[in-house]
Amino acid sequence: MEKKTVLTGITTTGTPHIGNYLGAIKPAIEMSQSGEYNNFYFLADFHALIKCHDPERIAQSTREIAVTWLALGLDTDKATFYRQTDIPEITELTWMLTCMCSKGLMNRAHAYKASVDANRDSGKADLDDGVTMGLFSYPILMAADILMFNADLIPVGKDQIQHIEMARDMAGRFNHTFENLFTLPEAVVDETTQLIPGLDGRKMSKSYDNTIPLFCSADELYKLIKQIKTDARAPGEPKDADNSTLFQLYSCFANELEVAAMRTRFEEGIAWGDAKKELFEFLDAKLVEPRARYNEFMSDLGAVEDILLKGADKAREVATPLLEKVRIATGIRPLTYTSQAKSDEKQKKEKSAEAMARAEEGRRRAILMQLQPLLDQVAAADDQSAAAQNAIADKTAEVASLKKKAKQKAQNELDLLQEALAQYL
Ligand code: TRP
Repeated sequence: MEKKTVLTGITTTGTPHIGNYLGAIKPAIEMSQSGEYNNFYFLADFHALIKCHDPERIAQSTREIAVTWLALGLDTDKATFYRQTDIPEITELTWMLTCMCSKGLMNRAHAYKASVDANRDSGKADLDDGVTMGLFSYPILMAADILMFNADLIPVGKDQIQHIEMARDMAGRFNHTFENLFTLPEAVVDETTQLIPGLDGRKMSKSYDNTIPLFCSADELYKLIKQIKTDARAPGEPKDADNSTLFQLYSCFANELEVAAMRTRFEEGIAWGDAKKELFEFLDAKLVEPRARYNEFMSDLGAVEDILLKGADKAREVATPLLEKVRIATGIRPLTYTSQAKSDEKQKKEKSAEAMARAEEGRRRAILMQLQPLLDQVAAADDQSAAAQNAIADKTAEVASLKKKAKQKAQNELDLLQEALAQYL
């Protein structure tokens, strides 16, 4: 069987911290080492511009993230590691997909809705206050990141699941409208790695300002660990390991035996100060080598730039031919182009059952995307059953009034509408 393609992007606005390492970087590097997948990992620097207008921050974050992945052992022969902005094909595909994406779909994106809600809550007259088109249409750029490499599996945090669904919608609509060129991607969410606690015990996150940077100095690391919240239990009193941030962080890096031994020490009443010292020494020992590599790469950024450019070449070997097909499929062609090649290709495609299933899935998604506002209306109605019946009656009348191609299109919509509304009838 062909290897599945795993792809993920990291927005270049922050300094990599322990939560990023355990939640995203480590599993991604392991996936690339397993040899079971094609791996595409990239610095999402166009995404950075959506929420950060500090050029120095973006430039520095891009360095830090690139160097972090290399210092932690990403083998760039085993994974394609690149910077989004080195792949012009992604930007071009973004436009193609923008034309395949209902505005209503973007209205429902969480990030946009959160801004609108915040404006409403603060009594602003303009609900779109402070919303750029970048924020509004960012799921389209993200869809292009993914579809450009026909990625199957997208490891992401929970907050990103909706974006992967949207990428599926856009892929489906494109496949249905033009030609079956895109794989429908799937989100992969690892629940266990979502729970890395930060200094205050909440999820470690830049937005809570409770992170431990991966490659700060040993002194800084100890200083931060000393800030971790503990309870008031005195030395000698048994400690609750499961509710201790110190213990949880230790467990993220330790093996089973080490975890069990530390648990015993908590039960025996280890002093908090000692627990902090132990955690520091343990983490520092794990980080000392990658930290040295990090500092080495940081003092040789030219070499890192070369690695990224090589990665971009590799990525473009995939992106360029696919984008060429996308252009041809949509009618952006040399004047002399004849479609013989295309009909050959069509026949070949039709043989594959998988391709047919993909096309069918795309057809359904494309239709559902257009019906979604109607489905939302029914779901929000006081009398859902009556609303569902009305919606179906209206569509039935529309089918009756139309002819030929338009009639078939409306009939397809009616079929899916009946299916989607059956729950209310
Ligand atoms: N938006 C993602 C985040 O904030 C980062 C990202 C950009 C991404 N493009 C992507 C993740 C493509 C997966 C696939 O985390």
